[in-house]
Amino acid sequence: MSNSDRVIIFDTTLRDGEQSPGASMTGEEKLRIAKALERLRVDVIEAGFAIASPGDFAAVKAIADHIKDSTVCSLSRAVDADIDRAAEALAGANSGRIHTFIATSPIHMQYKLRMQPEQVIEQAVHAVKRARNQCADVEFSCEDAGRSEIDFLCRIIEAAIDAGATTINIPDTVGYAIPHQYAATIGELLQRVPNADKAVFSVHCHNDLGLAVANSLAAVVAGARQVECTINGLGERAGNAALEEIVMAIKTREDLLGVHTNIDTPHILSTSRMVSGITGFPVQPNKAIVGANAFAHESGIHQDGVLKHRETYEIMSAQSVGWHTNKMVMGKHSGRNAFRTRLDELGIVLAGEAELNAAFARFKDLADKKHEIFDEDLQALVSETLAAEAPEHFKLVTLEVASKTGEVPDAKVVISVAGIEHSARSAGSGPVDATFKALEQIARSEATLQLYSVNAITQGTDSQGEVTVRLEKGGRIVNGNGADTDILVASAKAYIDALNLMQMGLKAHPQVADV
Ligand code: KIV
Ligand code: ZN
Repeated sequence: MSNSDRVIIFDTTLRDGEQSPGASMTGEEKLRIAKALERLRVDVIEAGFAIASPGDFAAVKAIADHIKDSTVCSLSRAVDADIDRAAEALAGANSGRIHTFIATSPIHMQYKLRMQPEQVIEQAVHAVKRARNQCADVEFSCEDAGRSEIDFLCRIIEAAIDAGATTINIPDTVGYAIPHQYAATIGELLQRVPNADKAVFSVHCHNDLGLAVANSLAAVVAGARQVECTINGLGERAGNAALEEIVMAIKTREDLLGVHTNIDTPHILSTSRMVSGITGFPVQPNKAIVGANAFAHESGIHQDGVLKHRETYEIMSAQSVGWHTNKMVMGKHSGRNAFRTRLDELGIVLAGEAELNAAFARFKDLADKKHEIFDEDLQALVSETLAAEAPEHFKLVTLEVASKTGEVPDAKVVISVAGIEHSARSAGSGPVDATFKALEQIARSEATLQLYSVNAITQGTDSQGEVTVRLEKGGRIVNGNGADTDILVASAKAYIDALNLMQMGLKAHPQVADV
């Protein structure tokens, strides 16, 4: 297959994905996801919006410094300060990209930018030139291209390519496009822009009408050779095109689409689980590729067919996206080497021996409580180990909960606050409510609980419960996570994790005001 037939996979989980309200991540979590994306062989990782906050800058820089095999990209408005900050964050990258954007639709230019179309072209050209002076790889996006006039798009794209843009992105920012119409736009741009052959054309589709993947694939048929997407379809509002769906559609229907990607598909599932665990956004059971039921056959006729010949009801194998490879069970007799090897296979890279030892000690504790340990348990365990290594203001010491039919539940907690133990007791409408109220009596965070969710990490009643607690205060949102075989302990851990994040000023929502 020739090179021109490869579709570049540009993952924006860490930037557009993080813009989902409540999906903000710490720098450490972003780096862990970036390593998993590199292992998945994503071509370009959009690591963040360097100017958005010091935390975003640090995360982009850390990812640029660590990731060697994928290009690392930072978003920037078409503004000098943004571009310079992106370049600064990317300075250590093996391969860096500055992604600069400005809105091109009449509605955005008139009401948001309050600029004339000519001024927008001028600013875009200036931004691309400034970016090119600092980085050889520059992407230019026409924000809200899906509602922009085609003649204007042709003019600004031609000017951006002349100014040095190497990738031109045509985002359907508001998820308004319909596949055949979006494909026609891409086809027309490729034909009409005189220097179109000097840049890769990219698409970035939002899912407001549930068409992000369909629109992206239609654009690929029309000639786009980069698709911007996110793990699990995370992203603003209804999300972005889901990477796993784009990649598997291209792989499964290569016969029809005539293109391929570089993605190492057996790592899809573990990456999806990692992103879901870190963000607290669960994956629905019937989600294509990575949902729990994606390869489950319930009807007897289907089961019979699959047993006789898998392809009767399966268009791709579960193994090809990582399903069966993740069934390896570990237990209390598993040694340190097997533990390390499995983490390696899951794409989890720990910083050194100390981290490995801490994670292994937690593994042994868990193995005492739980007979079989699955990959999902290992992922939760590593998240907990890494979180525990960060300085903790609040720490759970003990939790005692009484719950009996017909009686009001009661919780007593002891937590240490900056090293000093405090205890509190509270009743509640349920044991979790009582626990959180008792914790609040000590912490007095005055945060609002926005989300409380419990997921069984694996099957069976001995599964660990993985709890996400989302707290909001003064516009800042944090997601705390906790896992334990006792879901009340997991809930308390998640609440305390969220309190620590609030305290540390991390996980602030990254969006900045538009120009
Ligand atoms: O949706 C969008 O237009 C974007 C751009 C910044 C690429 O996310
Ligand atoms: Zn977007």
